[in-house]
Amino acid sequence: MFKDFPLFPRAASTVADQIDTFYFFMVGVCGLLALGVVCFIIYFALKYRRRHEDEPVSKEEAPMWLELVWTITPFFILMVMFAWGAWLFFDVNRPPAHALDVYVTAKQWMWKFQHVGGRSEINSLHVPVGRPVRLIMASEDVIHSFFVPEFRVHTDVLPHRYTYNWFEATIPGTYHLFCSEYCGTEHSRMIGSVVVMEPEDYQVWLSGGVQGSPAEAGQKLFTSLTCNTCHMDAATARGPVLTGIFGRERPLQDGRTVVVDENYLRESILNPGARVAAGYQPIMPSFQGQVNEEQLIHLIAYIKTLTPPVGGGLPATAAPAGAATSTAAPPPPPGSDSPAPEGQDPQ
Ligand code: CUA
Repeated sequence: MFKDFPLFPRAASTVADQIDTFYFFMVGVCGLLALGVVCFIIYFALKYRRRHEDEPVSKEEAPMWLELVWTITPFFILMVMFAWGAWLFFDVNRPPAHALDVYVTAKQWMWKFQHVGGRSEINSLHVPVGRPVRLIMASEDVIHSFFVPEFRVHTDVLPHRYTYNWFEATIPGTYHLFCSEYCGTEHSRMIGSVVVMEPEDYQVWLSGGVQGSPAEAGQKLFTSLTCNTCHMDAATARGPVLTGIFGRERPLQDGRTVVVDENYLRESILNPGARVAAGYQPIMPSFQGQVNEEQLIHLIAYIKTLTPPVGGGLPATAAPAGAATSTAAPPPPPGSDSPAPEGQDPQ
């Protein structure tokens, strides 16, 4: 019913209705409570008003049972909100395993999208209907925020790390995309659209305008930055071999473990000493300043292809046959110092 309310955006993703229901539950509960409080204020103001100048102040206290009722009842109501909200939060933040990955780069003042298959676009994002899409997002400069009201999807896009988001569109059409974090003079013009297409149309669109895939570009970069000299051949490797590591848990030099995800790979390329894989020396140079956001995406996309997907194509897709670990959620990975090649060192 709310979908038709003109001030309310249409619900066009799988989570939108759940979020709306929760939202209206909270608004309803808070409205009823506020109404009750106001009614009692008015009622008591009249009932206990001072009737003559010398009337003594009442010493009456509320009985214990009443105190308990009005303390415990709101407690349970709030716990319902908490539990429901937490459940929704986890649901909304866990992409399904077969989600389609799209890399998003935000900058003043545009949105750039890189599809795994090779197409890239600016200020418009094409996706198929009925398929979960996972966004791997980073900013080239300041904080931006990815917001599609119809999907009830809203996540900040930060410099220096990846944030994630996912949605599954349910109705084909074109939807507004906003930057919802004030990011400079032209913040209000940092807008775009999300085009939700039937799967067949999406396939046609995807095959048009073919550019090399990000993984292919990443492979070239991997060689040109000489990452391969340290990370490919086990016999001569001075850093961990990167085959089959994505999405897996890996031990670190300092005894901790990490799950290899996009953020860990990113950190390992830009700040190799932060979390060094067990068994390796922190000899890898930083590639900070040598690779830009897009090249990082390419490198990461390539490294991900070194780990064949198990079930779906998600992030942590993980582990090849024997990988026991995290198939589901890709956390940060290990081997930090390794991912990137040792760059100049070899020479
Ligand atoms: Cu980007 Cu506001």
